[in-house]
Amino acid sequence: MMENKIKQTGKAKLSIGSDDYELPIYEGSMGAPGIDVRPLYKNSGHFTFDPGYTSTCSTESQITFIDGAKGQLLYRGYPIEQLADKSDFLEVAYLLIHGELPSKSQDKKFKETITQHTMLHDQVESFFHGFRRDSHPMAMMTGTVGALSGFYHDDAHTTEDEARDMAMHRLIAKIPTIAARCYKYSIGQPHVYPNNELSYAENFLRMCFSVPAEKYKVSKTIVDAMDKIFILHADHEQNASTSTVRLAGSSGANPYACIAAGIACLWGPSHGGANEACLNMLREIGTVDRIPEFIARAKDKQDPFRLMGFGHRVYKNFDPRSRVMQKVAHEVLDELGLKNPVLDVAKELEKIALEDEYFIAKKLYPNVDFYSGIVLSALGFPTSMFTVLFALARTVGWISQWNEMLEDPSQRIGRPRQLYTGPTARDYTPISKR
Ligand code: SDX
Repeated sequence: MMENKIKQTGKAKLSIGSDDYELPIYEGSMGAPGIDVRPLYKNSGHFTFDPGYTSTCSTESQITFIDGAKGQLLYRGYPIEQLADKSDFLEVAYLLIHGELPSKSQDKKFKETITQHTMLHDQVESFFHGFRRDSHPMAMMTGTVGALSGFYHDDAHTTEDEARDMAMHRLIAKIPTIAARCYKYSIGQPHVYPNNELSYAENFLRMCFSVPAEKYKVSKTIVDAMDKIFILHADHEQNASTSTVRLAGSSGANPYACIAAGIACLWGPSHGGANEACLNMLREIGTVDRIPEFIARAKDKQDPFRLMGFGHRVYKNFDPRSRVMQKVAHEVLDELGLKNPVLDVAKELEKIALEDEYFIAKKLYPNVDFYSGIVLSALGFPTSMFTVLFALARTVGWISQWNEMLEDPSQRIGRPRQLYTGPTARDYTPISKR
């Protein structure tokens, strides 16, 4: 079980009319304190109002911490730069779920367990054939992951540790197989079964890019880059898709259905869909001399256009993941001997935007999605697969957060309230009188 560790460090005083209220202030180990408003409605008859949750903590969590001002991202206290440099994705998955880096024996056992579940139930195959070939891979991934809830009934008992562990292991193990299957189906190639002798990242690359007619070889640089990209995308506090998974899970819903809900939310262009939108934008810009035109559009309030891959709700300084991703972009392009004009446009766009008053004033910096599209495209993925890869990696974060929520003694079903501005009570008017 999770142990709640927030400590009361003070009191907030609130005056409403002639009444005064005191609300406890809690603090965690890092980050801003929070005012506990749980008693507010019962004591004062007032709600708080915070659409978009810009000033609202939805939960206590001990998994990931972001300091937006410092550009800091920690997974269970470890800086993302160190994990990207020294760890591997399955070790990071273990860390996010269990809270500590695994010992040699724990690491070996965890990797063996995951490896035992990489194959899909053969009947899942028929789900893919129900999709049109040109269906977006995210549509296939959302549908197929949700469908797994029809195959693994034992895992649904979220109150039992063993069932929860099995669901987590199955999801981590099968999500690359499903992601690769979505890709192969969309290009009309036969799907490739997992090969359990390969590492997680190499197995995924092989399921995506090998064909039965040829031997498949991939360089260590490319495998390491794929693994690093998964690490960078693994978790990120209570972002929109993680909050979706938590809210779905708070009702006790089936874990596969909860993760499918997270995949659906991540698909949006304001969230995980930004990597696909960003590369499409960079391609539309095309050449460095067209950058000023797009910067002007991004600043024009009348124009809905936004610079995709820029801005973040939390990071008001650089996104540490975009710096690692930029380095990976160079490593991959150098390894493949690719000259990618889009990378030149991206670097020039970043330089111009970071010197522009509008972006400085609004603290808009490149986020994780700004360079990821360039790397993924260089690795051979079509833009339609970019968010699928984000969802593959983020599945580890989603299940870690889902598991923590179920182990949190203070957890209750999520049920926000509202400020209602619709019609006041009125009587039904018969159609003859309308
Ligand atoms: C991810 O939450 C997470 O952690 C998400 C994520 C994760 O790992 O889970 O980090 C992954 O989703 C990264 C973000 C990817 N999205 C994009 O790159 C899409 C482009 N960015 C924006 O749509 C926007 O910046 C958001 C959605 C990322 C953040 O939105 P906010 O915090 O609600 O900020 P906002 O929309 O209120 O913008 C504040 C101001 C606005 O101007 P004003 O109304 O104050 O005048 O900044 C402007 C916006 O118009 N602005 C931009 C801009 N982003 C914000 N202007 C131009 N281009 C942009 N990209």
